[in-house]
Amino acid sequence: MDQSDTLRSLAQTRANNAPPTRVITVSSGKGGVGKSNFVLNVGLSLARLKKRVLLLDADMGLANIDILVGLTTRFNLSHVLTGEKTLEEVIVKAPGGIDILPAASGVEWMTNLTQEQKLDFLQKMDALNGVYDILLIDTGAGISSNVVYFNLAAQSKIVLVTPEPTSLTDAYALIKVLHRSHQQKNFEIVINQVQNEQEGIDVYRNLTSVADRFLDVRLGFLGYVRKDERLCRAVLRQTPVVEAFPDADVSVDYQAVARKITQSKPDLMASELGLFWRDLFQPAAH
Ligand SMILES: Nc1ncnc2c1ncn2[C@@H]1O[C@H](COP(=O)(O)OP(=O)(O)OP(=O)(O)O)[C@@H](O)[C@H]1O
Ligand SMILES: [Mg+2]
Repeated sequence: MDQSDTLRSLAQTRANNAPPTRVITVSSGKGGVGKSNFVLNVGLSLARLKKRVLLLDADMGLANIDILVGLTTRFNLSHVLTGEKTLEEVIVKAPGGIDILPAASGVEWMTNLTQEQKLDFLQKMDALNGVYDILLIDTGAGISSNVVYFNLAAQSKIVLVTPEPTSLTDAYALIKVLHRSHQQKNFEIVINQVQNEQEGIDVYRNLTSVADRFLDVRLGFLGYVRKDERLCRAVLRQTPVVEAFPDADVSVDYQAVARKITQSKPDLMASELGLFWRDLFQPAAH
């Protein structure tokens, strides 16, 4: 049995014993479109729908998710790997019933692991498999190796765009790379910062009409989130908007997206968290 067989059988053993954790990434072509707030507030809305949610903050941008909820995190996934900390010590319990797992910046630490470290890491991550229903990942902006790796391994890939032309072209570029270089076909689109539902639908149609012409991909419409200045007020208060202003347009829309996520069927081909981490280590297998 070579190393990839070992990883696969490890992951499959887990698959038989624990209910699967669904892995969902949130990415964007352009930075600053609203990913971190989306992940946090949709995560909280999923928790209200009785889902057990773990947020993985893989984006090392300035406005990290921990800051959005007024928490400071000192340790991350890399400390689990080096053995300095246990997963329990690194996972932060945030108000509202969600957990946050801070990642380390970049994936270099992941790609440079020895085989033994990879197996050890997979075993540690296995502890999470039955614990959460959904792992929601803020991958960051652009097409860095970090973003690509997480997208390749996830079952559902959300791409967040705004009506801004540069956001659309950058989202298209991200989808194109994931499709052409990494054979990904299915994406879920959310249009953020729209004036109303119609604008959301129009922007989605624009994106699909270009994608349909040049790429063999399927872009689902997961929803829209209205532009709402109460989000900015919530960010300043370091309180999630769904908690600070639960009836605000933006909160209503985040909740609608969360409901839609619970209603959609995950891809059965890869419905297991252990396989997710295995894939993360072996992107060449795709
Ligand atoms: N629906 C919205 N309504 C109003 N403002 C919004 C909305 N979504 C995002 N914003 C604004 O965009 C800012 C950036 O949001 P956020 O930090 O979530 O983006 P990001 O995509 O994570 O950025 P980065 O790529 O830098 O990590 C927010 O502080 C807020 O001012
Ligand atoms: Mg962010």
